[in-house]
Amino acid sequence: MITESTPVISIRGIGKQFNAVRALNGVSFDVMPGELHAVMGENGAGKSTLMKILSGVYSEYEGELFLRGKPVRFHSTREAEDAGIGIIHQELNLVEQLSVAANIFLGRETKRALGILNQGAMDRRAAELLAQLESNISPRALVSSLRVGDQQLVEIAKAISLEAEILIMDEPTSALTESEVARLYGVIDRLRKRGVTILYISHKMDEVFRLAERITVLRDGQFVQTVNRADATPRSIAHLMVGRDIEPARRRQSNQASSVVLETQGLSLAWPGHSRGWRLKDVSFKLNQGEILGFAGLMGAGRTELLECLFGASSVQPQGQLIVQGKMERFSHPAEAMKAGIAMVTEDRKRLGLFAQMTVRENTTLCSLQNCSTAGVLSRLRELAATDKQIRSLAIKSSGPEARITSLSGGNQQKCIIGRCMLTRPSILLLDDPTRGVDIGAKAELYQLMEQLATEGVAIIVTSSELPELLTVSDRILVLCEGVITGEFTREEATEQRIMEAATQQPHFV
Ligand SMILES: Nc1ncnc2c1ncn2[C@@H]1O[C@H](COP(=O)(O)OP(=O)(O)OP(=O)(O)O)[C@@H](O)[C@H]1O
Ligand SMILES: [Mg+2]
Repeated sequence: MITESTPVISIRGIGKQFNAVRALNGVSFDVMPGELHAVMGENGAGKSTLMKILSGVYSEYEGELFLRGKPVRFHSTREAEDAGIGIIHQELNLVEQLSVAANIFLGRETKRALGILNQGAMDRRAAELLAQLESNISPRALVSSLRVGDQQLVEIAKAISLEAEILIMDEPTSALTESEVARLYGVIDRLRKRGVTILYISHKMDEVFRLAERITVLRDGQFVQTVNRADATPRSIAHLMVGRDIEPARRRQSNQASSVVLETQGLSLAWPGHSRGWRLKDVSFKLNQGEILGFAGLMGAGRTELLECLFGASSVQPQGQLIVQGKMERFSHPAEAMKAGIAMVTEDRKRLGLFAQMTVRENTTLCSLQNCSTAGVLSRLRELAATDKQIRSLAIKSSGPEARITSLSGGNQQKCIIGRCMLTRPSILLLDDPTRGVDIGAKAELYQLMEQLATEGVAIIVTSSELPELLTVSDRILVLCEGVITGEFTREEATEQRIMEAATQQPHFV
């Protein structure tokens, strides 16, 4: 008999082994109808693997799944979709060469009689779905032309289009900005009013505490506990996740009188064909040795564009001046910026950062092969030693340096990119949302690492999609709005309120 208290999903003794890695081990818990159930755990805890089992990506596993009391085993995502389970994947699962609409309806294309694709109908429906997210991405745009945040919106639209009764969201907001997150919350509210059950994975505590009714914590592939949100605190959940209390990063004295290592004067970046005409306008600032400088701003404010300019990675040549270590520079390629001692961790690791075909070692040493060579010959031993050092200092969870990078959990892939940057021993480090998808323990480690680097004299520019994080790490914060600097705050002056005010201050009124 089905009663209100019959779980919609029962997970019983689920285990999964990847070669040498035990990703899941005897996990059991229930998900109740209509609840928003968060799943939390450190990077590599097994969250995504479990979700892939629930959504039919993996059909080889131990244990049993019950859907409304009936045993099920899905052999494809299609079977799971037919049973009413949809998923928004953490590592976005879109076909870059296809349009937005084609991706949303992939495998479920609307056809006219005689099997001809009804392009118009699909475009209209795609536009409707995107409108729910208040996004004006064109259904005809190629996914490869979209920024990662927009790709995430397309992935969300695609999942919503399934009208699933159970929706799995694996870090849906990791690439979204504050305003997009707010719109996603609106969509979640509407789905929940319709009785949709949501399994929600996020490393952002405030998000989980705002949305979830119950929270299940996994650690090292094992079930730890399911708790009611009302009985939990962020601290208690963090403790369940890592098995210990997390120390806040120790702040060093900010170094006031140090020398300027990087300076821009009137930096502008044109935006051909756009009504605004510029992506960045007249950006002038100084970065000191040993300083951690945060850049805040909403989506489209120009944070990523600015970092790309400094790193020689923008598609259009910027105007204005860039002075690095007292020398006027004009980088036309990241290799030139790297020669000048600059390293960058990009926000879009899948497209710009990682080489999926390569191993952890190859991905980590990619930019420092010279340092791993003796007399111009690449030394495998030195490469392994360098990789090992990063694996240990960043606590990268993998089966070893020779593991394929794609076998690592999302957060651990991100740590590899940070490791790659560290190996180039930069004097200026650009971090574009470096903790995206990184767990709470690893975040604390990363903050500690930033503090340590700054103490050693490295100058750091950082952006973050989480304002509290920026307030934690930065010595000084500059705010961008529509490509213009609209605010500057010292660590003592900076508050969320002040930054948000500056971030929404239209530049023409400044
Ligand atoms: N396809 C695969 N091949 C080999 N190992 C894998 C594969 N997928 C996952 N793993 C391993 O299984 C473990 C669990 O990974 P999973 O992606 O489920 O973690 P997660 O909890 O989602 O982490 P994150 O918060 O970083 O996304 C990790 O140790 C990972 O390296
Ligand atoms: Mg994951």
